[in-house]
Amino acid sequence: MPKRSSNARTTRNGARPALDIRRYAPALGAEVRGVDLADGLDRATYEQVRAALLAHQVLFFKDQTEISPRTQIEIGRMFGELHMHPAAPQMAGYPEIFEIYVSRNSKIANGEFWHSDVSCDEVPPLGTILQLHVLPPIGGDTLFANMYAAHDALSEPMKRILEGLSAVHESEHVYRERYSDRGVDDTGREYPSATHPVVRTHPETGRKALYVNRTFTTRIKELEAAESEALLGFLFDHCEGIDFQIRYRWERNDVAFWDNRCAMHRAIWDYWPERRKGRRVTIKGDRPA
Ligand code: SIN
Repeated sequence: MPKRSSNARTTRNGARPALDIRRYAPALGAEVRGVDLADGLDRATYEQVRAALLAHQVLFFKDQTEISPRTQIEIGRMFGELHMHPAAPQMAGYPEIFEIYVSRNSKIANGEFWHSDVSCDEVPPLGTILQLHVLPPIGGDTLFANMYAAHDALSEPMKRILEGLSAVHESEHVYRERYSDRGVDDTGREYPSATHPVVRTHPETGRKALYVNRTFTTRIKELEAAESEALLGFLFDHCEGIDFQIRYRWERNDVAFWDNRCAMHRAIWDYWPERRKGRRVTIKGDRPA
């Protein structure tokens, strides 16, 4: 029987039904039902998804079928120009697609430590849309953390100190030879680094979020080395606090769409030697301000 296009469903008066959006946990996140992204996104549904992303920071689309690379690219482009990853291997014919693949031969798993995607770029990504097609029988969850809440929980004196500070985000130590097991020879390639405010204001919600992470952030520019190390150590531990987090257990073909401007994430590699596989597109954002 042909697959019913959930995007073609309409109410009796011809309008698109509203998506079923339910909060995942108090910290952040929402589950979304009522659309199969494999069919693409119509304009009205796009508007609902965009508003939901701003409200919940990460969306988990349930009851999905496999999205073709072309459709995933088209959906990503509705939210903005696509970002090209500086290190990861590109999918043949679809350079915008980043294939997530972990197997018994992997040296590392992508996103194993807390991060906001590619925060080492001058203009880091707005958001990321990831669908997982192959999951281990158990494990392979992803953690997400709310960086508005991490900011808001700080004392007023600490907030005032952070307002004047900027941090360096580097990637040489992250990406050099990282994908050699997948055939990437990065000899001669230069990896990006950038300086961003420690507290950024989200360009769409106007809310303040902490914007440092253990993967890419290496020092606070205005401080002495020992001061920078101590303050970053405190901030990393603070941001990773369980009060700000959720842990997402994937089902096959689930799609996660997260906002890198106000959420961090960490993929847990607790399933070796099993495989985990999917595709992601990443959408360009704004220069953090
Ligand atoms: C990532 O894109 O950082 C990885 C997320 C995941 O595989 O769960």
